[in-house]
Amino acid sequence: MFPRISRLGARLLREPRAETRAGNLLNSGGILYQGHVNRHSTPVVTPTVLSLRNVLLSTATSGDQDESSQAKDKISVTFVNKDGSEKTISVPIGMSMLEAAHENDIELEGACEGSLACSTCHVIVMDVNYYNKLEDPADEENDMLDLAFGLTETSRLGCQVIAKPELDGMRLALPVATRNFAVDGYVPKPH
Ligand code: FES
Repeated sequence: MFPRISRLGARLLREPRAETRAGNLLNSGGILYQGHVNRHSTPVVTPTVLSLRNVLLSTATSGDQDESSQAKDKISVTFVNKDGSEKTISVPIGMSMLEAAHENDIELEGACEGSLACSTCHVIVMDVNYYNKLEDPADEENDMLDLAFGLTETSRLGCQVIAKPELDGMRLALPVATRNFAVDGYVPKPH
C-alpha cells in the first residue's frame, strides 16, 4: 500500500512540471507565446505578439487570395482576325467564346445566338493541345460544322466553347468566310 501511495504522490508532483515548458508556443488562435509558458496560467498578450499575429494572418489571406481568385475568374484568349491582326481578351470562366467576342467587338457573327442553328460562329482552335481540352462536340454541333466554310480538324462553334481554366492562353482564328443560312437561303438536309 505504501509503495503505491508514494508512487502516486511522486507522479502528482512530476505532472505540473511536465506541463510547463520553456520555448515558443503558437496556440490554436494563432497567438505566439514566448518564453516560459505554463498552460494553467493566463498568457500575457503583448502588442508585439498581436502585431506578429496580424502579420501572419494578413500574409496568409490578403494578396495571395486576391491573385489566385483573379486567376481563377478569367482566362486570356487571343482571336486572330481574317486579316491576321490579333486581339487578346479576358474571358470570364463559364462564358462562351461567342459572347466574349461580342463583348469585345470581335467580328464573330453568331446569327442564331447560340441555338445551334447556324455555323456563323465557326472558329478554328489554332493549337491542337487546346482543342483536345475542349468537351467533345454534340451531334448538333457536328451537324452545323459540316456545313461551315473552311472546316478544319480543329474547328468548333464559338457559342459551344465555354471558358474554363485549362483554356487559358488559347488562340482562335476566325475563318475567312462563314455561311449564313438565313441570307444564303440554304436549308440543311435532315440526316
Ligand atoms: Fe449559331 Fe453558334 S451562333 S451555332
